[in-house]
Amino acid sequence: MLVFNKQVEIAAHLTAISNSKTTIGFVPTMGALHQGHLSLLKESNLNNDFTVVSIFVNPTQFNNSEDLSNYPRTLEKDLEKIKTVSDKIIVYAPAVDDIYQGKTVSQHFDFDGLENQMEGQFRPGHFDGVGTIVKCLFEIVKPTNAYFGEKDFQQLQIIKKLVEKFKIPVNVVGCPIFREPNGLAMSSRNERLSEKEKQDAAIIYKTILQARIKFETNSATAITHWVDKKINSIPSFKLEYFQIAEEITLRPCLRKKNNKKYRAFIAVFVNKIRLIDTISLN
Ligand code: PAJ
Repeated sequence: MLVFNKQVEIAAHLTAISNSKTTIGFVPTMGALHQGHLSLLKESNLNNDFTVVSIFVNPTQFNNSEDLSNYPRTLEKDLEKIKTVSDKIIVYAPAVDDIYQGKTVSQHFDFDGLENQMEGQFRPGHFDGVGTIVKCLFEIVKPTNAYFGEKDFQQLQIIKKLVEKFKIPVNVVGCPIFREPNGLAMSSRNERLSEKEKQDAAIIYKTILQARIKFETNSATAITHWVDKKINSIPSFKLEYFQIAEEITLRPCLRKKNNKKYRAFIAVFVNKIRLIDTISLN
């Protein structure tokens, strides 16, 4: 399996193996890979001539330095997991300087307001960091198709907007959320939960499933109150936000309209570990 650390080297390799008909699938990640990441790799591997995965813990998208330093870094294990999908997958695992060249700062983006909702409110600057790194990785890899999980649905919509605004010739593919048997959405952060916390965290998916049923007859405000009570009933759990939002603009649903699609979004602290999840309500 080829592993590159330098952007000039991977870019040169991709140019050498490509012609005008070659398709390159790309899966950007921050490593600590789990089945959710591997499901994106499988999708890319099935549908492209070559697949590239990047492993890079991007400092500019962390608004909390503790979260950045605690983020799991498990490159050797990650490479083993990638091999289980295919040993032909090309890995790009750069150091911070190969990307940022001494200036670890974000570009500022206008994503037509998508960046101000939910995650944007609670993680200032996060989507500038995501936009900066994904735009940079797209320029290096020049993928035909790029795969993103619906787990980070707001991120997925923002990447679609980035591609539209900067006219980047890539097809952005959204992939379903991969879950633990108890329903907990897989996340690199789950590794930091105790067994008990992992079991308790099943309440997050259960709650949004129930919210979906309630949305047939209840207002978004009433459901939000109910979710708040339910999540906060577990002593070490703290609801950061629950929002029912329109799927395209991500604006909060004030009054339900029949011609719109909605999703529920949730962010919960389990002690210091922040988990997110989302579900379609249609
Ligand atoms: P990371 O959290 O490592 O996630 C990499 C990709 O895997 C994202 O597209 C994410 O939505 C997807 N993913 C994570 N958990 C998933 C699950 N349970 N099921 C399906 N897909 C899942 O998201 C990032 O990294 C970064 O922001 C990145 C885009 C790499 C930019 O730094």
